[in-house]
Amino acid sequence: MATTNQQRSIFFLILFFAIFSFSTSLAVAHDPSQVFSKYVSPSSLGLKREKLSHLHFYFHDIVSGKNATAMRVAEAPSTNTSATFFGAIVMMDDPLTIKPEINSTIVGRAQGMYAFASQSDISLLMVLNFAFTHGKFNGSTLSILGRNRVSTVREMPIVGGSGVFRFARGYALAKTYSNGQVETIVEYNVYVFHY
Ligand SMILES: *[C@@H]1O[C@H](CO)[C@@H](O)[C@H](O)[C@H]1NC(C)=O
Ligand SMILES: *[C@@H]1O[C@H](CO)[C@@H](O)[C@H](O)[C@H]1NC(C)=O
Ligand SMILES: *[C@@H]1O[C@H](CO)[C@@H](O)[C@H](O)[C@H]1NC(C)=O
Ligand SMILES: *[C@@H]1O[C@H](CO)[C@@H](O)[C@H](O)[C@H]1NC(C)=O
Repeated sequence: MATTNQQRSIFFLILFFAIFSFSTSLAVAHDPSQVFSKYVSPSSLGLKREKLSHLHFYFHDIVSGKNATAMRVAEAPSTNTSATFFGAIVMMDDPLTIKPEINSTIVGRAQGMYAFASQSDISLLMVLNFAFTHGKFNGSTLSILGRNRVSTVREMPIVGGSGVFRFARGYALAKTYSNGQVETIVEYNVYVFHY
């Protein structure tokens, strides 16, 4: 009789711990801080309709003088004897303006680098962020990663963005507006899908 009671209480003890640990593991599974991955609805992130924006601005690449905004930070031993400057890497913090004049309204900056990436023509690897400071785009960025080969109109992919440009994708068209020893001005037309 005593044995049966003992066996019964051991059984209930085991049952209790089984239920307790099961419910604990359920609680852990439902604790959002413990979940690695789950599906969410776009509306839970405030995402509504996808929009297409067209941005138009001028990019100022100032390579010398006391107001230089682009400077060579690395090169290969053979860069200076290469007809295509192969191996040079230039870091930039170039202003973006509404009009071609440098003293017109600044809408942001192009921050990043370009590298001379071809041994047979002047072809740049562009890795940069457009960091906007104007209007509803203030504080938002677009990321560009692409090939910029010297020609009339160059096309570079927009691979993403932040702020109002979260989930961005699109392309940038670059056309040289003027080209001098000190400053090159490039007109940009950017087409970007975002929410
Ligand atoms: C540098 O910028 C300042 C302020 O915008 C301007 O007054 C000056 O003329 C510029 N200097 C050169 C060499 O472009
Ligand atoms: C190559 O040319 C650049 C620009 O003129 C200069 O700053 C750099 O020192 C040169 N590098 C070498 C290795 O001569
Ligand atoms: C901008 O610079 C141009 C000359 O390059 C000058 O004619 C114009 O008045 C300037 N505009 C402003 C707003 O300073
Ligand atoms: C952009 O945002 C920054 C930081 O929030 C603010 O200081 C600045 O005044 C804003 N600029 C414009 C042009 O709205």
